[in-house]
Amino acid sequence: MQTSRMGAAKPVMMTIRLFIAALTAVVLAACSQTQQEVNVLQPEKPVPPVRNKGEGKPVRPAKPRTTPTRAPSVTVAAPRPFVPRKPGHRVSHVNVPGKYVAVTFDDGPNSVYTPQVLDIFKRHGARATFFVLGENAARNKSILARAAAEGHEIANHTSSHIKMTSKSRQAVAREIERTSEIIKSATGFYPTTMRPPYGATNPPLVEMMYNDYGMYSILWDIDTRDWQHPGVSTVVQRAVGKAQPGSIILLHDIHASTLSAVEEIVVGLQARGFKLVTVSQLIEMGRRAAGVTEPEVPAAPAAGTPPAVAAPAPEGGAAPEGESAAEGAAVPAAEPVPAGAGESVLGGSSGEVAPSPVEPAPEPVL
Ligand code: NI
Repeated sequence: MQTSRMGAAKPVMMTIRLFIAALTAVVLAACSQTQQEVNVLQPEKPVPPVRNKGEGKPVRPAKPRTTPTRAPSVTVAAPRPFVPRKPGHRVSHVNVPGKYVAVTFDDGPNSVYTPQVLDIFKRHGARATFFVLGENAARNKSILARAAAEGHEIANHTSSHIKMTSKSRQAVAREIERTSEIIKSATGFYPTTMRPPYGATNPPLVEMMYNDYGMYSILWDIDTRDWQHPGVSTVVQRAVGKAQPGSIILLHDIHASTLSAVEEIVVGLQARGFKLVTVSQLIEMGRRAAGVTEPEVPAAPAAGTPPAVAAPAPEGGAAPEGESAAEGAAVPAAEPVPAGAGESVLGGSSGEVAPSPVEPAPEPVL
């Protein structure tokens, strides 16, 4: 019996063992599944610090930088009268297929001198460009309105004659926008050209002027240094004697001595066969001329037009004083320019201008 009882209990024990084994397997499988699910929810392991050879401190991977978003400048979305081949032009001379020059006046408008300059230009059927300071423009809006109505160009020279390369972008933006708004309120148009005080600019600022405000940065290739009061005949000789097709001539309509030279300059340039146009007109001519021969640079004149006279070579010797420190930045028309450098179309360049602190602050308005 004993044997038979034992024999009968064996299958029961086997069944129980199998059941326990199966139960254990199920429980283990369930635990494994749970563990996997937990792993999915766990964050990735932090990247271990990288240790440079020879350095004791661990170098952690750089955090991604968050770029501060700049408030879009919506108030001065200037119209663009021409489409540049490359944004961010800086222009100090324009390659044009004819005898055209741009006479420019900085730092005004002046309530006494600027109207007389306008009278002279009107008498001789000439056009000028006025790079005005916002501070002066705000006091002389009627002069700006008259100048614009008579076909002259009103351009931005900052509000208080700041040296832009020494200021923050925000400070530059404030000066530029304030001035553009005054010009718009006086003339109905936002300016499409600007001139950095002292000629002090750099590629990022040039890009900023174009990208944010649609303005070309205009320099010059003829500096009369009229603010040094060298005498009327000297100022006239510099302006008239050095003029070449496409020249941009720098004057200031805030000096009595400059006013005394203006009529002789206009008459002298016209006697040499030059037509006096605005800077934007000069640029437009340069673009049209360049468009004929794209992509060749420097631009050759179109068929049937008079040949372009070679632009003046950079003057040798020490850099002259005042804003003329930028004079050497002009790209002569005859100088080969690397292909793809769109600036050569207009004769400008994109290099940095050496800022010059020599030019005096604008004289107080009389
Ligand atoms: Ni100036």
